[in-house]
Amino acid sequence: MHSGDIFVIQGGKPLRGSVTISGAKNAAVAILPATILAQGVCVIENVPQISDVQIMLEILQYLGAEVKSLNPHKYQIDTTHLRSQTVPQEMTKLLRASYYLIGAMLGRFGSAKVASPGGCDFGIRPIDQHLKGFELLGAEVSYEQNAIIEITADKLIGSQVYFDKVSVGATINVMLAAVKAEGLTVIENAAKEPHVVDLANFLNMMGADIWGAGTDTIKIRGNKPMRGCDYTIIPDQIEAGTYMIAAAATHGDVKVKNIISKHLESLTAKLKECGVQVEDGGDWCKVSAPNPFAGSHIKTGPHPGFPTDLQPQMTVLLSIASGNSSVTEGVWDNRFKYVGQLLLMGADISVNGQFASIEGVDALRSATIHADDLRAGAAMIIAGLVAQGVTRVEKVDHIDRGYEDVVEKFRKLGARIKRVSPEPARAASAG
Ligand code: EPZ
Repeated sequence: MHSGDIFVIQGGKPLRGSVTISGAKNAAVAILPATILAQGVCVIENVPQISDVQIMLEILQYLGAEVKSLNPHKYQIDTTHLRSQTVPQEMTKLLRASYYLIGAMLGRFGSAKVASPGGCDFGIRPIDQHLKGFELLGAEVSYEQNAIIEITADKLIGSQVYFDKVSVGATINVMLAAVKAEGLTVIENAAKEPHVVDLANFLNMMGADIWGAGTDTIKIRGNKPMRGCDYTIIPDQIEAGTYMIAAAATHGDVKVKNIISKHLESLTAKLKECGVQVEDGGDWCKVSAPNPFAGSHIKTGPHPGFPTDLQPQMTVLLSIASGNSSVTEGVWDNRFKYVGQLLLMGADISVNGQFASIEGVDALRSATIHADDLRAGAAMIIAGLVAQGVTRVEKVDHIDRGYEDVVEKFRKLGARIKRVSPEPARAASAG
């Protein structure tokens, strides 16, 4: 993989066969920093091979963790000799989840100095709820936009933390610190995403005492002794959803394996509304769309609502559905930037703030397009698979952040897609 790689896609072929889903990115990037709290050896399995995970592992090593790869998806992490030190911007700007180092280091050392996080650009991404939570646990926070966030606490004390907005990041970050706070912490209006539950299960396996993860009230009895453990990360529901949508959009027939189908209920319901067939096998599902599908109206929201991280992919599907559809983005201020790329391909979409109105077209045409961010990038692949002709997708580094072996997985489903590196110069025709 090189920076500047592009994907070249010869579209128009239905996907067929089976695909196996990797471990969940957004669980992995929380669980890996949570090993800091163990002060011992953890073995983490089903770790996805993606660049966000590699960056998180590099940051842990920089802090003094010993990281050993036992196989490509299994890591042993020893945080015994970790030192608390500043995590610089060169590292944190590479991924949003670097802010989980704050909660984990605050819990372990009573202090953290971590530069502001990077991540996908969906407009303003405040962290006020994270900081409010830390302050309620007794920490002092010094923070200016785009600067080092400095947090210290003589002692963390359990507290009642009510979030003004449902936030995955704030829920996870406060859980990380609260497991080391004295007494009871009650998080109200907590996020309920599967990765929040996965992190809570991991922390409990290390010795923490957390109840209620997956509901909007999470209770944590803190200051329990924590030790290393073995843990297997859940499957990635967004990766699974991406392949499900790609299967439907190409009128294919695909078995998606290694999933927890319960995590995908909102997507499955919407695909069925469109007339797509979805067979649910619990840890697999089969998606087929032999006939033209109908449009639908989607509104994204916190779990169990329709996931914002599947919104761009679903917009591609709706752009070739019959009739009128709409997509309302209920989480992020600015997550329709990619629509300009779909317009180049002949889609008929008009965006007004957080609302997109879609008139289905018969087909998309190939174009040279780019990935604006991770999920928009996945949507561009689906658009390329659907379109007639050769589509080139640029800026695919964004996609590598969160999709393991994306080219190989799509090729196994019969897609004509290949990665082309800028050097040495080669003719970019799809095979
Ligand atoms: C997580 O981001 C995910 N990232 C995102 O996935 C996902 O889009 C998002 O949750 C929503 O599901 C990771 O897990 C690493 P939030 P996060 O805090 O935690 C507002 C992907 O593609 N808010 O739940 O940063 C915020 O502005 C990525 O995998 C505050 O107002 O999202 C947004 O409107 C992209 N104050 C809403 O809450 C805060 O302190 C939800 O954000 C925090 C958030």
